[in-house]
Amino acid sequence: MSKAPMRVAVTGAAGQIGYSLLFRIASGEMLGKDQPVILQLLDLPQAQKACQGVIMELDDCAFPLLAGMFATDDPNVAFKDADVCLLVGARPRGPGMERADLLAANGAIFTVQGKAIAENAKEDVRVLVVGNPCNTNALIAGSAAKKVGRTNPANYHGMLRLDHNRALSQLAAKTNRPVASFKQLTVWGNHSPTMYADYRNCTSNGDNVKDLINDPVWNNDVFLPTVGKRGAAIIDARGLSSAASAANAAIDHMRDWVLGSDEWVTMGVPSDGSYDIPVGIVFGFPCECKGGSFKIIQGLEIDGYSREKINKTLKELTDEAEAVKDML
Ligand code: NAD
Ligand code: LMR
Repeated sequence: MSKAPMRVAVTGAAGQIGYSLLFRIASGEMLGKDQPVILQLLDLPQAQKACQGVIMELDDCAFPLLAGMFATDDPNVAFKDADVCLLVGARPRGPGMERADLLAANGAIFTVQGKAIAENAKEDVRVLVVGNPCNTNALIAGSAAKKVGRTNPANYHGMLRLDHNRALSQLAAKTNRPVASFKQLTVWGNHSPTMYADYRNCTSNGDNVKDLINDPVWNNDVFLPTVGKRGAAIIDARGLSSAASAANAAIDHMRDWVLGSDEWVTMGVPSDGSYDIPVGIVFGFPCECKGGSFKIIQGLEIDGYSREKINKTLKELTDEAEAVKDML
């Protein structure tokens, strides 16, 4: 017997990430090849015509798992009974901007949407914020939702998976080993150049990756800046921010959360106080996903170098939280 469809709300559906994301969700790559989905697309009034074009294309793919879809400019309609919400719709940055520069333009979107999700979605809804600055936007959405109650505040996440995937590829290139051989990588903190990609616990086919690389200069001067500034490098090269890789990371985050992952993964989740990160701050942590839930991996040693890096990215997030305190 086929499963009941899951309702997936996607905001910014007419945008460039949406154009990559929707087709992969409809083909079963996010929630499973046996899981029918209903797509609930949200975008601004002026983007509704473009949404209809995307709907025509989704129709033309004849995806067997696509059990229904609609587009709307009303968040209350888009989030109605949603099981999963992917909050992509927001302004992207241009050359020379930092993601935090978008807070003024984008923050308010997430108070409205957090409230609408809490009022309309399923109580166990899972929410992933992609729109930048995604950690603080997730904090804003989660705070708005908390005021309504009903949904689980721990389920409002920010997307750090793109940083995690970028770090994996850099490690694979440096060691000439396959991406899939790497386990136990963490990206701590903010989706910004201050993020701390940490391979101290990482292994590749049983070998400790830190010992394998044994090059602190590469770590500081090449690896961390390459991963941290990859978004800007893509904007510089493409004239537009990353889209297919961002959609891919969103699929990875939500698939692992819903279906489980064999290995630990980086997720931007509201802190429960682990590793001395203040409660509620949405922070990249190493997480394991099982049975539809996630938990932060505990007990990792934080040495002096790592604490310094973690404090730096935390400071940026507490400054962002202070800047939007009226929205929290
Ligand atoms: P885009 O400009 O191509 O598309 C954005 C879409 O959002 C547009 O269709 C726009 O009409 C819509 N939109 C704007 N405000 C909205 C609202 N209030 N409700 C619903 N829809 C709304 O941008 P994009 O390239 O798809 O990027 C979207 C966001 O994702 C940007 O903020 C970008 O910086 C961010 N991003 C995040 C990551 C990450 O790793 N977290 C990676 C890449 C991009
Ligand atoms: C990215 O990391 O590619 C995105 O956050 C887009 C950006 O502004 O860099």
